[in-house]
Parts: sequence; structure tokens; C-alpha cells
Amino acid sequence: SYRQQMHKGLKRPPGPWSYPLIGNMLGRNPHLSLTRMSHKYGDMMQIHIGTKPVLVLSGLNTIKQALVKQGEDFMGRPDLYSFRNIGDGQSLTFSTESGEMWQICRKLVQNALKTFSVSPSPNSSSICLLEEHISKEADYLVKKFQQLMEEKKSFDPYRYVVVSVTNVICAMCFGKRYSHDDQELISIVSLLDGLEDIAASGNPADFIPILQYLPSHSMKKLKEFNDRFLAFLQRSVKEHYKSFYKTSLIQQSQEKRLEPNANIPEEKILNLVNDLVGAGFDTVTTALSWCLMYLLTYPEVQKRIHEEIDENIGRERKPRMSDRIRLPYTEAFIVEMFRHSSFLPFTIPHCTTKDTVLKGYYIPKGLCVFVNQRQVNHDEKLWKDPFIFSPERFLTADRMKINRAETEKVLVFGMGKQRCIGEAIARWEVFLFLTTLLQQLEFSGRAGEKVDMTPQYGLIMKHKRCEHFQVKQHFHMERK
Ligand code: HEM
Repeated sequence: SYRQQMHKGLKRPPGPWSYPLIGNMLGRNPHLSLTRMSHKYGDMMQIHIGTKPVLVLSGLNTIKQALVKQGEDFMGRPDLYSFRNIGDGQSLTFSTESGEMWQICRKLVQNALKTFSVSPSPNSSSICLLEEHISKEADYLVKKFQQLMEEKKSFDPYRYVVVSVTNVICAMCFGKRYSHDDQELISIVSLLDGLEDIAASGNPADFIPILQYLPSHSMKKLKEFNDRFLAFLQRSVKEHYKSFYKTSLIQQSQEKRLEPNANIPEEKILNLVNDLVGAGFDTVTTALSWCLMYLLTYPEVQKRIHEEIDENIGRERKPRMSDRIRLPYTEAFIVEMFRHSSFLPFTIPHCTTKDTVLKGYYIPKGLCVFVNQRQVNHDEKLWKDPFIFSPERFLTADRMKINRAETEKVLVFGMGKQRCIGEAIARWEVFLFLTTLLQQLEFSGRAGEKVDMTPQYGLIMKHKRCEHFQVKQHFHMERK
């Protein structure tokens, strides 16, 4: 057969010896252990998790070859147990579907997001909806942090950032803003605490079937989160139909449904909204939260961002999306946060759609594929001193501009056919939240307290919560 012909003379990728039923031991930090193994076995290595074989890809060129040049072959999603618990198994991101419906949905979401980030706000002729929402939320955070500082002398910003970021994405999907004291939203988002490891690459229950039948506290919590989240969204979507908001995902999808070839069923839309809120709130919150941690750890970096804002924006007006191009150091800081933290150590797992050959190795159809983004971001072959935090590495020699060739080596949003849909929005959000906060505030940690930057492994790696943030008013620096 064709399969055998292809097979003949081609080797399987190398990999470590594994235990018969358990597979390879990845330990508590698979992103680190798999990187170590890749030093020995190379950019393409086959491991076993439980009884299932998994192809682990490292190295920028190898990953590009698979996800971009041979994108069709690698664009599947594996049928994993933990994925089935996300969005009723109907999710765009996590379902195994990659046919026509998936493509229509992906297009729809892309268009909706694009519209949202360029269409003008109904309240102002000059700014877009995204800018308006972020700006409003960031202003709220500034006041909240100042108030917390007065009342408590130090605080954990995470809890407030998560509601603000969720508000931006909810505004986008159904035109609603939640109060920071909204107990329902807070209790739903906090259900996610401690669940980071569930959808992470290498969750044992995905690969050792028997574990699926054991009662699992985490799995119960994930199910509860999903049920409540879906119910919550269902209600919000219903409410939206009564509201007057004109630009939102739901609005868009209804218009699109009038087109004959885009007949998307009602419940599908709910799943899309679920996906977007799910993908949009935790990632952007985590990105901002890492930014704040780096500011605390590197005060001299914070000082340079302050100087850049003072010189280019001043205090008379709010930061705008259009300022981004004029703040290369701030941009470099954000890219370096993405690279150094690599808080999405792996993409969402992929799976091959057919038998294929990658760099001379035979790869069968249906093989689960992990893409090690963190390895790329710390590869000694690509980076000088990869473990040092240095925004300067992304500036041109005269330090006036971003060095695009360098920023393009950073891998955080995946690449190819399934790359993140929300990348542009995510980058805008991080930029505008950060600059609006820093225009007015200076962050520091309570004296004598250590900041723990150790990432905790998960699909999205978080730092430990930090309770001792402090802020003071930032005063415009005098020009010398
Ligand atoms: C997928 C990163 C924010 C929507 C992904 C993937 C990554 C990623 C690595 C998987 C790519 C792959 O499997 O190859 C990030 C990061 C974010 C972020 C680092 C923030 C800093 C967002 C936002 C949205 C979003 C704000 C929505 C508004 C999605 C969706 C997918 C996705 C829908 C699934 C795409 C598909 O399976 O076809 N993202 N993302 N993301 N992201 Fe994001």
C-alpha cells in the first residue's frame, strides 16, 4: 500500500526509552524536561505519554516546516479527554473538527474581531471601540489601585486585572460590562484558579485512559466551571438580544448568517463566544500580570518606560493605540515579557491529518503533536543570553526602532493555519492597559518582600499570586 511504500526506508523520529504503560516521566515541568530531552534527541522526537505516542517539535525551522510549509498535514486537533470537557466538546479551539464548518467559524470570528478593533466608537469620532473599552477599564484600574493603596497599603492586582480584561472581551462579544463587585463573574473566574494543569500538554488523563474513570477533584472543578460558564454566557447572550449595542460578535454573526454559505447554527455561536471569552480573558490577564511582575523586579526598566511615555505622550491626554509605534522601548518590553516568561510553553496540541514525512522522518496520520514554544524562545542558537531579561535585544542599534527580524523569532501565538486569532487584539490590549497604568502610576513591591517569578506549569503558566504590590502617583519627569 501507499502507507507501506512511504514507510519503507523512512525512520521514526528518535526518542527516549519509555515504560510500557506509563510512558515517559515528564515530571512537574514538562516544558523543561522536554527541552532537556530535545538536546539529546533533536528537534523531532517521539515520546510516550501513557501508551500514546506523541511527537514533540522544537527548533524554529522545524516548527515552521511543520505548521506553515506542511500546514495541511499538521492542522488536526487530537481527540483528548480534557478537550472534550471544554465547551461541551463543541469548541472551535479544542474540537477535532477541521472541516468546512470549522473554517467558516474561524473566518467569522476573525472578521468580527477585525471589525471590532477598527470600527469607530459611536461616542467619539476619533477612536475605535476596542480603544474606548480598554481605556475605560484601565482608568478604572488606576483608581482602584490608588484606593486599595490607601486602604490596605499593599494589594494583589490580579483579581482586578482579570475582571477588567474580561469586561473588554465581554463588551466585544455581547456589549456588556460587569461590575468589579459582580459576585457571579468573580466566583466563575476564580473557579479556574488551580486548574491550570488540566488542559496543559501532557495531562496524564489524556493519555492513560484508566485515569479518566477515577474521581478527580480537578476534573470535577473543570466541569463545574464549564457548566457555570456556559450558563452565564447563555444568559448574557439572551440579554444581549434586548440591548442596543450595535457592534458585537453576536450582531456580526447574525448578519453573516443571512449569507447562504455561512449557515451557522445558534448553539455554535454560543460556543464561539465561549471560545473567545475563554481564550481571551485568561491569556491577556496572565500577560498583563507578568508585565507587572517584571516591572517590580526590574525598576530600571519601568523607569525607561516612564521616560518614554513622558516624552511621547505626556500627561495632557490619554495613551492611544496610535502611540504604539512611537514607544519602541515599551513594545520591546512587552515582546521580551512574552519571550522570557513563555507563559504558553506549548501551543494547543496538534495532530496529523494524514501520513506524512517531516525532515526525512515518517509521521503517521493521527499522531498527537506538541509544539515547544518555550524551547524556541530560549534556544541558545537563536538568542544571546536567553535567560536574561533584556528588552534592548529587540531594539535597533540606535535604539530608536523595533528590530522586526528579532521579534519575529519569538513564538507565543503559534504559527500557520491554527495560529491565534486574537493576536492583534491581545497585543493592543497589553499595550494600552500597560501604558494607561504607567502614565499615572509607579509600581513597587513592599520593602523586604521577595517577588517569586517561578512559573507554575500549565497550558497557561502563572506566577504565584503576589500580595505586596504598591503604587504611587507617577509624576512627569523634568526634561534635562
Ligand atoms: C489559539 C496564544 C489571546 C483567541 C491560540 C494558540 C496560542 C495562542 C499559542 C494556539 C495555536 C496553535 O495551536 O498552534 C495566545 C496568547 C494570547 C492570546 C499568548 C494573549 C497574550 C487571545 C485572544 C483571543 C484568542 C484575546 C480572542 C479574542 C484564540 C482562538 C484560538 C487561539 C479562538 C484557536 C484557534 C484555532 O484553533 O484555530 N492562542 N492567545 N487568543 N486563540 Fe489565542
